[in-house]
Amino acid sequence: MSNTETTLRAEGVRRGARPSPAGLPAGTASAGGRQVLEARGLQKTYHKAQVAIPVLRGVDFRVEPGEFVAIVGQSGSGKSTLLHLLGTLDAPAAGEIWFDGQRIDNLPVRQRDRLRTNTFGMIFQFYHLLPELSTLENVLAPRMIASGVLSYWRARRKHQRDAAELLEKVGLGHRLKHRPRELSGGEMQRTAIARALVNRPSLLLADEPTGNLDHATGREIIRLLRTLNATEGLTIVMVTHDESIAAQADRIVRLVDGLVQAA
Ligand SMILES: Nc1ncnc2c1ncn2[C@@H]1O[C@H](COP(=O)(O)OP(=O)(O)OP(=O)(O)O)[C@@H](O)[C@H]1O
Ligand SMILES: [Mg+2]
Repeated sequence: MSNTETTLRAEGVRRGARPSPAGLPAGTASAGGRQVLEARGLQKTYHKAQVAIPVLRGVDFRVEPGEFVAIVGQSGSGKSTLLHLLGTLDAPAAGEIWFDGQRIDNLPVRQRDRLRTNTFGMIFQFYHLLPELSTLENVLAPRMIASGVLSYWRARRKHQRDAAELLEKVGLGHRLKHRPRELSGGEMQRTAIARALVNRPSLLLADEPTGNLDHATGREIIRLLRTLNATEGLTIVMVTHDESIAAQADRIVRLVDGLVQAA
């Protein structure tokens, strides 16, 4: 077991009361929802040079709270498209997405932003860290957005302590002041994971989190995700084209020809 994993198992990442989706009062959105994530009949077609590219043709699936689900499919099968829809970064042409008893694909922009900031964490294949910021500052950025500048400033020491603690827990306590270009790929991804967790999300959406890493480092990242899932009950939806990585999840959802293949 790695040091990171041991620390996570021993202490867990401290998590406070979970905000309800889109910042609605607790209980309002949760009624009957139990933070289930559900895609119903999702369709998405891209249009390029007047050519229609149907990618998702009616995707249905459901993720239970605390599950670790892998979405697999060939390159171009629409995995990233689907994850972006689930994360409300893009809107489906038809169908619905529900989370915690609330339809989320058609929320007003501000509520969608709040949902992404407070309730969902996202990680990407190429990390998307801000190059001018240190590891610590990258992790703090979503906290600043969630708190608002004034309130962030008042509690900045606590926020910094929380972020440093989180980086410690993903094994990067010794890299707080490094910039992304001074980190290895695995370290950048672990920074991105800490950033995704800083607002204590209940759902983590991960697009090829190991896609740009060597095999051993990729396995280390998956172990970290598995540990977060086990110790924190963090629900994880992970896209990957790597079957051996997908096999580490509780369940595999396979995208074929724009549909979820029956299990
Ligand atoms: N903005 C866009 N405009 C036009 N076509 C797009 C756009 N984004 C994606 N596509 C097309 O949609 C299809 C699905 O893309 P997507 O990125 O979701 O696939 P993927 O399963 O994530 O692939 P990979 O495993 O290579 O990451 C691809 O054929 C791609 O060319
Ligand atoms: Mg992709």
